Amino acid sequence: MAWAPLALLLVTAATVTTAATAATAATAGNRHSTNIAEDARLNVPALVRKYGYPLEEHTVVTSDGYVLTAHRIPHARGERPVLPGAGARTPVLVMHGLMCSSADFLVLGPGSALGYLLADAGYDVWLANARGNYYSRRHLSLDPDERERLDFWRFSWDEIGERDLPALVEHVSAISGRRRMHYVGYSQGTTAFLVMAALRPEYGARFLSFQALAPAAFNEYSDNPARDELMQYESLLDAIAFSNGFGEVLRRRPLFADLGLQHCADGAELQELCAQALTGGSQHVNRTLLPVFAGHNPAGAALRQIIHYAQVQRFGRFARYNFDPVTNMARYGSLRPPEYDVTRVTTPTHLHYGLGDANSLPANVRLLARRMGARAVLHAVPRASFNHFDFIWASDARAQLYEPVLALLRRHDE
Ligand SMILES: *[C@@H]1O[C@H](CO)[C@@H](O)[C@H](O)[C@H]1NC(C)=O
Repeated sequence: MAWAPLALLLVTAATVTTAATAATAATAGNRHSTNIAEDARLNVPALVRKYGYPLEEHTVVTSDGYVLTAHRIPHARGERPVLPGAGARTPVLVMHGLMCSSADFLVLGPGSALGYLLADAGYDVWLANARGNYYSRRHLSLDPDERERLDFWRFSWDEIGERDLPALVEHVSAISGRRRMHYVGYSQGTTAFLVMAALRPEYGARFLSFQALAPAAFNEYSDNPARDELMQYESLLDAIAFSNGFGEVLRRRPLFADLGLQHCADGAELQELCAQALTGGSQHVNRTLLPVFAGHNPAGAALRQIIHYAQVQRFGRFARYNFDPVTNMARYGSLRPPEYDVTRVTTPTHLHYGLGDANSLPANVRLLARRMGARAVLHAVPRASFNHFDFIWASDARAQLYEPVLALLRRHDE
């Protein structure tokens, strides 16, 4: 076509950031964002389609009425769909972290982000969204904006593991015709898998492998006394928040994208501060992309997801949500909530951890490996300074992490 050489010329001259969006993005084997402001604001379906990949939006209803959105990239650019059944691509269910969304596996762009790399490697990619985040803020009968009783927001990652994940598994199987699949979880996405596999082992058996990125479960080692101190107040926080009509945290709003573009962009005075706040001072993120990250993250969560992590730390137990003793008795038949039994996880497990990760401390990940026993294998990301946010945002996440994960997936394929 006539415009193609012109577009190519413009790209090689590196003068275009706004004009040559969709057309060049789809044709070039691009590894970078073509338009920062646009990528910060687009929703996942438009973002993926802009880069020339197919994107399907799926609605999955859980057993307790939450309406989840899963984003599916069924195949790579320029490939043809495959019919469901035995010859179909192997599904990979991908689950985001706390206050995150499916966008986190896409914002690095084609050639760099895990979502696209999985599609390029021949997988049927399912980027899930947990109840309560930007894409899954819906319920059959409860209203997330109702401030009186806040019934929509009475959940933690216990429900995400026990109810969201099984519903997603059944949906993926029904659509793809494949009974078994891989799982890639990041941070809270790993917590939710362990919850699912401990409470409902029949679902653990549906996975060919469990790739745990920055695993979060046991929290017995700490390097943050101030945070530990704060954890003592978790039950107070729960009570005060709920009686004041506050059950949701950091819902995604257009304002975040605006703030990001204003203060995190190249040339902005506050860019370094923004990098600290958003990426924990990562040394491996491309600062130019910070507004894109800020446009998609945070994506909202229930306050109880945070409180549940606080309980894990406070009580030194990886256990179910702690209510008052009476409620605990009614729910669990014991005064204290039962621990998640991680020895019930039968899925071949690979724990990928960062030596510079202050959120998922290496000592806690090694403890998880010991508790899980022989089926868990530890993999430290080679680069020593790799931190919690580098798992989704580092420029070299592909070389440091995603390529090794892809090799492990192939090894466990059927
Ligand atoms: C950072 O990202 C921008 C925008 O995608 C890109 O133009 C630039 O080349 C990247 N820098 C590096 C060092 O990769």
